[in-house]
Amino acid sequence: MSPHPVHIGDNLDILPTLTGPFDLIYLDPPYNTGGRVVTGYMDRFEDWTGFMAPRLAELPRLLAETGIVIASIDDREIHHLRILLDETFGAENHVGTVVWDGSTINSSKLLSVSHDYLVIYAKNHAKLKASGTTWRQPRADAQELLDAAESAWRAASGDRTLAQQRFRAWLAPRRTSLPRGLTEYDRIDETGTLYRVSDPGAPSVQASRSFRELTHPVTGEACPVPKRGWRMNDASMDRMLAAGLIEFGPDHTTQPKLKRRLADNATAVPRSVFRQEREGARHLASIDGVGEFPFPKDHAVLARWFDTVTGPDARILDPFLGSGTSIEVAMALNAADGGTRTVTGIALDEAGIVQNVLVPRLRHCERAYGEQVMLSCEVGEAPTAAA
Ligand SMILES: C[S@@+](CC[C@H](N)C(=O)[O-])C[C@H]1O[C@@H](n2cnc3c(N)ncnc32)[C@H](O)[C@@H]1O
Repeated sequence: MSPHPVHIGDNLDILPTLTGPFDLIYLDPPYNTGGRVVTGYMDRFEDWTGFMAPRLAELPRLLAETGIVIASIDDREIHHLRILLDETFGAENHVGTVVWDGSTINSSKLLSVSHDYLVIYAKNHAKLKASGTTWRQPRADAQELLDAAESAWRAASGDRTLAQQRFRAWLAPRRTSLPRGLTEYDRIDETGTLYRVSDPGAPSVQASRSFRELTHPVTGEACPVPKRGWRMNDASMDRMLAAGLIEFGPDHTTQPKLKRRLADNATAVPRSVFRQEREGARHLASIDGVGEFPFPKDHAVLARWFDTVTGPDARILDPFLGSGTSIEVAMALNAADGGTRTVTGIALDEAGIVQNVLVPRLRHCERAYGEQVMLSCEVGEAPTAAA
């Protein structure tokens, strides 16, 4: 596994020294809130656009042809950021702007603004669409059903009928509030898998469809074939039989059904608005030896979007590394799926953030995930291990 290189210094100096291509550039610039962030570090810019423009200008050269940019920002500067990113990457490459409702109640008397934005650009939006790329994210409601089925299965100690009864008792009061497509998943098989059954018949007669007679596994007799044939061809039928995705009835007089597992259908194209409680600051504060840094990004939010827009071998650039959330996220995703993501980070050492926050956090992550970070103290200086 390659180490994650971290450069200490101003990204204006360091970006020109880097070589790409990166699959994802994650931007979390100062929001220009006008206030003190930590002692000695004011998030205040006379000319925020003038600060950002030369830094953004370095990015197209570093972004892969299929690459994505995600920028975190809030209401204060989003309009300026959009204009800058349109100029830098082309307005036609704006994929969309996502609203993250973090639901922090603030003290404002007029409007409690609880959301941030994730502004998403592609290096080449048209090519990305033409390539057939689809973005998917886990559906929280589907995961709720999967979790309930798992606990019903555990409580029933592997008794399929009892597990199904328990699961349906859990589902009953929720049927009206959950989407119908989900509540149809109310069967549990002999391996504890939650599934539904669907009509196996083809909608119209087509020569490519399978008309094969299936033999009932208990009676050994042929089961009825749908009038217009099966939905799939012979090869798909073989694959589904081998994977246990055909459900036979009690005997050969019942037509077999198709088995659809919820776990195979528990994702959806991401929506442009999502809610997730802010927990970045709490998480950072829970790491031993890490100093004050009030606004780290949320681990779960970055994990969700990094995983959505890139693959497990992604090369990620984070020019505003701050407390190092993106590196922890890459390590956690790698641990979960065996990926080889690397993050190249740039951290400005203002107000002791590097020594007091970034380095202790990275050391903690190295221990927790067994990956390495290479830290360079000056531009051009050979990176060294963080620990
Ligand atoms: C919004 S915070 C980023 C937080 C980070 N994503 C995290 O989760 O901890 C912005 C960071 O950009 C850093 N920064 C400001 N100017 C910079 C520059 N010229 N080069 C590199 N980093 C800079 C600030 O020190 C601050 O840590």
